[in-house]
Amino acid sequence: MPTVIAIDGPAASGKSSVARMLAKRLGWLYVNSGAMYRAVTWLAVSRGVPPGDAGRVLGLLDSTRMEFGAENGESTIRMDGVDPVPHLTDPQVNAGVSAVASIPEVRRILVAAQREYATGRDIVMEGRDIGSVVFPDTPYKFYVDASPEVRAARRARQGLTDAIGERDKVDSSRRTSPLVIAEDAHVVESSNLTLDGVVGEIIGRLKLAGLTPPGQI
Ligand code: CDP
Ligand code: CDP
Repeated sequence: MPTVIAIDGPAASGKSSVARMLAKRLGWLYVNSGAMYRAVTWLAVSRGVPPGDAGRVLGLLDSTRMEFGAENGESTIRMDGVDPVPHLTDPQVNAGVSAVASIPEVRRILVAAQREYATGRDIVMEGRDIGSVVFPDTPYKFYVDASPEVRAARRARQGLTDAIGERDKVDSSRRTSPLVIAEDAHVVESSNLTLDGVVGEIIGRLKLAGLTPPGQI
């Protein structure tokens, strides 16, 4: 059975950076589930469809070929052959993604694609519901947190326009698969930790759990 490390947390808590670094050190595939929700949002925005219009968003998905793959140790996305990644942090995508992610049918489609990634290979996947819904049976669950102030400052330092407080509110209160701390997740409070510090804490836990082959990380 492939092994899954699930990393969840609120916006700008450091999930992507941490998951990418950890996956690299393990030699495993890094999967960014948020990018999938962002890609669907980009599709809607670029076609003039309001992100909250479930019927039209689903109509777009019906007529679009979405491909989820892997390259250089990371997940990739193509929408009708186009790589949406350069657009995924556009202000309009940041503003619309939580509405798209609240559409249950969108989640059903993307969760199925996320589970596919774990067929035949070990992965580190980050998102909001990876430990609670997508891979509830994995024993390796982490919830990376930081104070709202620290997270807002991190996002601002990236030069991005992103109302993370609004996104957190919608993500935490939606009916389907809201952002929650899975009961058996290890919480890493990262406000005062560097990236290396967070990865170090996670690796420490994994070693305690007997996961890491000696010398691999
Ligand atoms: O990087 P950041 O935390 O800002 O966001 P992200 O991980 O790229 O996710 C963007 C949005 O997608 C989130 O605000 C959620 O609305 C949604 N999302 C989700 O609902 N479930 C996931 N597993 C991942 C992301
Ligand atoms: O994926 P998520 O939105 O949770 O966060 P990210 O995009 O990985 O991180 C947001 C920014 O915070 C990046 O510029 C990271 O380098 C930085 N960061 C940090 O300064 N300290 C940490 N402990 C984690 C991330």
